[in-house]
Amino acid sequence: MSNDNPQRPGPPYDESASNASGEDPRETDTSPQERATTLNWDENVPSPTETSGENSGLFDDLLSGAAIFDRKEVLRPSFTPNNLPHRESQINEMATILVSALRGDTPSNILVYGKTGTGKTASAKFVSQELESTSDSYEVPCDVEYINCEVTDTKYRVLAQLANTFIDDNRRRANEELDEIAAELEALSDGTPEAATLRERKATLEEYLETEDGVPMTGWPTDRVYNEFFEAVDFYQRVVVIMVDEIDKLVEKSGDDTLYNLSRMNSDLENSRVSLIGISNDLKFTDFLDPRVKSSLGEEEIVFPPYDANQIQDILDQRADTAFEDDVLGDGVIPLCAAFAAQEHGDARRALDLLRTAGELVERSEAGTIETSHVRQAQERIELDRIVEAIQTLPTQSKLILLAIIKLHQNGETDVNTGEVFNVYKRLCDRVGADKLTQRRVTDLISELDMLGIVNAVVVSKGRYGRSKEISLSVPAEKSREVVTRDAWFDEDDLSPAE
Ligand SMILES: Nc1ncnc2c1ncn2[C@@H]1O[C@H](COP(=O)(O)OP(=O)(O)OP(=O)(O)O)[C@@H](O)[C@H]1O
Ligand SMILES: [Mg+2]
Repeated sequence: MSNDNPQRPGPPYDESASNASGEDPRETDTSPQERATTLNWDENVPSPTETSGENSGLFDDLLSGAAIFDRKEVLRPSFTPNNLPHRESQINEMATILVSALRGDTPSNILVYGKTGTGKTASAKFVSQELESTSDSYEVPCDVEYINCEVTDTKYRVLAQLANTFIDDNRRRANEELDEIAAELEALSDGTPEAATLRERKATLEEYLETEDGVPMTGWPTDRVYNEFFEAVDFYQRVVVIMVDEIDKLVEKSGDDTLYNLSRMNSDLENSRVSLIGISNDLKFTDFLDPRVKSSLGEEEIVFPPYDANQIQDILDQRADTAFEDDVLGDGVIPLCAAFAAQEHGDARRALDLLRTAGELVERSEAGTIETSHVRQAQERIELDRIVEAIQTLPTQSKLILLAIIKLHQNGETDVNTGEVFNVYKRLCDRVGADKLTQRRVTDLISELDMLGIVNAVVVSKGRYGRSKEISLSVPAEKSREVVTRDAWFDEDDLSPAE
């Protein structure tokens, strides 16, 4: 099997390296659970359901091992630390721009970009928490709204979510204001002009509360949703910072209309001001923006460079202190996690995943301390998960092509050409009753599998016969086959060895 993709360090694709059968290491290690059940049931001890009162020690065995984690959640991606080493300058830059919100001015829009796992979301959330908490003590309220466009990915949903957030906030504030008005009215005599003004305000607020029910999550014309949002923002005086994370996903899915509207709102707002922070790990999306949106969004740009291994080590050291029990981390564990993650374009998320997964492996194996071997196992496991995910989400035709390559591989043919793949693919299509694509289209889909790192396709010269592609599998054959054939339309018969 070839494994010459320079971006992929280590042996994860070499099945023989992890274990002889090529199985997932998780399945071959005897887990404490298995050991516990084997012991009890083989020795004819009543099974857990038969015992009354006394337990069979299933969980006691597991709990008797030394604890590894003290606060595991600290290693999860959702955790936002309040100290972000090596991001001081980016955080300060953001704060310097946003501080004008506290003075009641409109901050410039900001475009934040950098590769995945470089701390963009964590830093932006940290700054927004600080900004909101500081703004409580200032005259003009500043609201920060965070939207993740990976989740909220259409124009309608973005606007509806924003509108509803501000409507909820207005309703809360209107209720508070009504209480204040009631108290003030009690202290005033009826005929005064102040009382008349207060009563007028009271009527406006009551009407708002009665009529404003929010935006449904589907069904309205988008213009109407935008108008609701606009009215809601302007109902009270405020500076609003809208943080649009994964902004490229929004543009990819529904164009730049929303950003166009948001970036031009200030000229029409009477009481409020809006500023935008766009966050992305893919700058290409700016090519698809209307030039006006592009220049408005990029008034300020902040770059998050990848971390190097030393920086990742600092990040891990800090998190490990709180995440683990004392004395469970072996020498070299954090440096190795940092080294692996630095190879993955300086991705702190990958480093934290590795450290957490290594800890989990030890937790299950009762080894007591985390060693570098566990980090290597964790690296293999994360790679495998990534492959499974990539294969699972392939379209059916690509799965059939991949299955053809797997079958050839399992027949001992490791460097095959497109024609050979095409022949096996056609037979598979007949067997499962799928439409057959042309050889040209199959060639394109093989290139896509190559880009995903699932196969390796190199063009070789055949002298006067021209050039041809040599295709080999870059992923573990058996595991990949199992994932491909999970699709409902694969019959058991198709699992028979390649013809
Ligand atoms: N300087 C840092 N200090 C501590 N933890 C960090 C730092 N940078 C990143 N992290 C952690 O690494 C993980 C990934 O960071 P984050 O989610 O901010 O990356 P990102 O740049 O937004 O990536 P993506 O582009 O994939 O969204 C998070 O768990 C975050 O807490
Ligand atoms: Mg992010």
